[in-house]
Amino acid sequence: MKEQREHWGSRLGFVLAAAGSAIGLGTLWKFPYVTGQNGGGIFVLFYLFCTFFIGIPLFMGELIIGRRAQRGPVGIFMELTPDKPGWKCVGWLGVLSSFLILSYYIVVAGWGLNYFLLSLNQFYLNRNEQEISGLFDTLYQSGGISLFWAFIFLLITFGVVYQGIRKGIEKWSKVLTISLFIILIGLFLYSLTLSGMPKALRFIFYPDFAKFRASAFLEALGLSFFTLSLGQGILLTYGSYLRKIDDIPKTAVIVAVMVISISLLAALMIFPVIFTFNFPPEGGEGLVFKTLPILFAHLRGAMVISTLFFALFVFTALTSAVALLEVVVANLIDLYSWSRKKAIISTTIVVFIVGIPSAFSGSQEVFKKWLPMYGQTFFTSVDSLVSVWLLPIGGLLLAIYVGFVLDKKMLLAEFREGSSWQFLFGIWYFLIKWAVPIAIILILLQKSGFFNVDDLISRLYT
Ligand code: TRP
Repeated sequence: MKEQREHWGSRLGFVLAAAGSAIGLGTLWKFPYVTGQNGGGIFVLFYLFCTFFIGIPLFMGELIIGRRAQRGPVGIFMELTPDKPGWKCVGWLGVLSSFLILSYYIVVAGWGLNYFLLSLNQFYLNRNEQEISGLFDTLYQSGGISLFWAFIFLLITFGVVYQGIRKGIEKWSKVLTISLFIILIGLFLYSLTLSGMPKALRFIFYPDFAKFRASAFLEALGLSFFTLSLGQGILLTYGSYLRKIDDIPKTAVIVAVMVISISLLAALMIFPVIFTFNFPPEGGEGLVFKTLPILFAHLRGAMVISTLFFALFVFTALTSAVALLEVVVANLIDLYSWSRKKAIISTTIVVFIVGIPSAFSGSQEVFKKWLPMYGQTFFTSVDSLVSVWLLPIGGLLLAIYVGFVLDKKMLLAEFREGSSWQFLFGIWYFLIKWAVPIAIILILLQKSGFFNVDDLISRLYT
């Protein structure tokens, strides 16, 4: 007999844990800087489009088959289609993506820890705006310090995962996700008073079609997958901890809306600072760390606010990192019957080792020739490998699996189980079977250079 699987304690607990896993550095750190690099409004529009029409259907799809199979991400495919062993690869691909993301995620979260400590020391005192934002460059160029903080963060993640699902992940996600929301709204209200706000609003919400680049579409798709944690088996895993009474379609929409609102709130805090103090919007990975401290420095009670913010930053990173680690661990336990302890300890060690070159990306002390050879740092290489290729490919295969391999009746039954939004099944099924795969294939073809939408469009207009 199968051992009883641990399940989420309550409906709210699951929504918040799913949101907690989704809301993380993708939302607070990545969304703003990728938006900045891709021209603002038009990119935000792509992002929303991808999230609603590609992201949400896949999100539901993952939860549905996870709950059905009650296994880890690779086991799911063995359980649902034992006669088609090839599909297991999709699970493995997801596990690989989670693992790779975790390896550089800990570096960014570690920077957050560093800023938590800096905030306690009131680092912005007696420094002008340029000096405050320059601190990030110092950190970035110091591989040792980056690695140290990444290590500490990884240890904390290890500790939480070690305690198991309910006690570890669920409990913490509730309190922290809500606190984050509150503090973000507070900071946003303050940003409203900055003189750069009108420019920022225009930058974020006004889609300038002259800036249209199809390649930004791919970027938006990758980001949408990243922020919703799609294509990596995490939602398959979380789905398997769901109970029959949980409402999958509704949860998916709620989580997506939360992710979008937090992403936009983060951007709405950061861009006013950029336009008020004339920083370049395409500031890259350091954007959050370079701009927000300036915002904080202008506030009364700067020390408390900035410390609180970075504490929450680290916590949201933690709820996501925990999930990323859990994917790999759950899988090892499920497939090879490793003990939880053995699986967690070995995964943590390997993640740390693979994370080393990412931590040293700015100082270039490890893999010195990486940047000249590949034109981007090790950190960005891993990040784009995952967001541009692995996640969309994982999503594509999953959509094909759900749409063409699995039995429609089974999906219908599982979709309806516990849901008050049963009428959505038809639309969902159409999207996941046709729209999602076609959109992803087009985007991937564009990226591989088979055709160039930018060219086609400019030819149409000339
Ligand atoms: N969605 C998370 C974020 O926005 C990052 C992430 C990607 C993730 N894949 C995941 C989190 C898998 C948990 C599980 O930061």
